[in-house]
Formats: sequence, C-alpha cells, structure tokens
Amino acid sequence: MMTKLWEARSLYDWHATNAVTRVKQVIEIMDAVEDTIRSRYDLALTDLTVLDVGTGQQQIQSAWLARRNRVIGIDLDVVAKGWSPRGFLTMWRVNGAYRTVKTLARKALRLDAMYARALHQELGRGAEDIPVYQMDVAAMGFPSHSFDFVYCSSVLQCVPDVNLALHEMNRVLVPGGVGYFTVQLYTSETGSLDPRLYSGDRSSIPYWAHLRPAECQRVSGNAWLNKMRLSEWRQCVDACLPNPIVKLSQPQAHTLLAIAQSLQERGHLQEYSLEELVTHELQVSWRK
Ligand SMILES: C[S@@+](CC[C@H](N)C(=O)[O-])C[C@H]1O[C@@H](n2cnc3c(N)ncnc32)[C@H](O)[C@@H]1O
Repeated sequence: MMTKLWEARSLYDWHATNAVTRVKQVIEIMDAVEDTIRSRYDLALTDLTVLDVGTGQQQIQSAWLARRNRVIGIDLDVVAKGWSPRGFLTMWRVNGAYRTVKTLARKALRLDAMYARALHQELGRGAEDIPVYQMDVAAMGFPSHSFDFVYCSSVLQCVPDVNLALHEMNRVLVPGGVGYFTVQLYTSETGSLDPRLYSGDRSSIPYWAHLRPAECQRVSGNAWLNKMRLSEWRQCVDACLPNPIVKLSQPQAHTLLAIAQSLQERGHLQEYSLEELVTHELQVSWRK
C-alpha cells in the first residue's frame, strides 16, 4: 500500500513538472506524423474528417488534429469532461471504481487542468469541444467510409483481437483515406508499461525486467497487454491492411543494443531477437 502511494506521489510530481514538456513532445511527434503522411501519400492533414482511436484522458493528439480538422475521438474508457456527476456515474459503471477514483483524484489535484493549460499555451486550443465516444476499436458503431484519416497512438497493444481492430480502422476509412497507428512493442525495454519507466524513477527496475522470469515481479503495468511479438505484428498488419508501410522506431538503439547483448551473453533474454528488444514502437501507415 505504501509503495503504491509512493509511486502515485512520484507519478503526480512527474506530471505536474512535465505537463508542458509532454505537450511539446507530442506536438513534435504530430508534426513528424504530418510530414510522413504528406510525403508518403501527398495528403495534408487539413480540412479532413478525422478519427482519433483511444484518445486517453488528456487528448493531446486530438487537440493537435482539431486545429485544422473535424475530429471525433473514441476510447474504451469514458473520458470525463468537466465535473458532471452524470459523467462520473457513467464512468463508474463502465470503467469501474478504481479508474473513476483515479480520474477524480487527477482532477482534484488539478493535473487535467495543467494539461489543458499547457495545450492552450502551446496549441492555442484545448480538447474540451472534441466529442469522445465510449467505444471499442474492434466494434465501432460508425458506418463504413466515415473518415478521411484514422489515427491511433499507443492503443493496440491493449487490444485482444488486433485483426478485428485493424479491419475496423480500415472499414471506417473512405476509399483513398489514410490510416496511421503506433503501437508500443511488448518486447521493448519499457514494454511492461510500468509507469516508473516513464517517470524517470527506474532505479529499482532491471532492464527488460518484464521478460526475465527472475525479475518480472519487480514491474507492474497499468493496463492489460496482448504481449504480441514483432513477427506477429508484421503478420497481422500484412493480413489486414492494404500496402502497409511499417517503420520501427528505435531510440537509444546503440545503448540498448550493448545492454541486450551483454544480458544475452550471460544467458538472459535468449528467446528474443536483438531487433525486437531495441525496437520501441511500430509506426504503421496505409492508404485504403
Ligand atoms: C496508453 S493510452 C494512449 C492514449 C493516447 N492515444 C496517447 O497516445 O497518449 C491507451 C488508451 O487506449 C484506450 N483503449 C484501450 N483499449 C481500447 C479499445 N479496445 N478501444 C478503444 N480504446 C481503447 C485506453 O482506454 C487508453 O485511454
């Protein structure tokens, strides 16, 4: 219990200090996504009908997209806007007590307000007006051919049936529409999604702890993960999407490669390829 409270405290400190940095980081990433889409498909992310899949509670990417497009979001969780009691009751029913209390705490501690302020400061708009429907990406209620651009960041590693989700994301695109998703690889160094790996407080966590039987109890993620390997992602993407382009993002590859090689020499992580250990995420795009 004390450990959990301490983790919550350090996570709060991290967000409180880093809201502006995080928003700036996402803006940079979205600028790069825009360049990629323009160069691969000659498509400008302007004046489009856009679906943001799995917006999360902060909706930073949705806000970026909504500067020049009509944006609709979906999330499996209810995304609570403001303080409406009805919103929180729905959240309690759909997301359960734990996530509702977490959201209430986040709001009471003004973390959501900090992100909203950072968004207004950096983008000149927030996400207050962007509709977010509670929906599963694997069973969306939109008619086919509804969106010009489908965007999905860091969601599909939490989805049990990725084939179904990719078919759905392609179904709702108009013919000629473009899709883009990123997914964090389970075999990456931070693939457990233990929040401490992101908040810089990783002193007690060995590298790739979640993949090492003797160390895996030292990490705990905050979401269910499908644990798909790199080869499974490649197969799935090829089977479900027309002409997908897959890029592997490998920040810090040099350092991680040396650590992974040294661990493998000592008998650890032998069943994993170096490529999947140093790959942080897959970035996939396609045109329907
Ligand atoms: C790691 S967060 C990513 C949030 C945001 N896209 C980002 O990149 O910052 C993953 C989000 O996906 C949502 N999610 C998980 N499974 C989903 C599903 N089957 N359909 C829609 N959203 C889902 C979660 O509720 C959560 O808000």
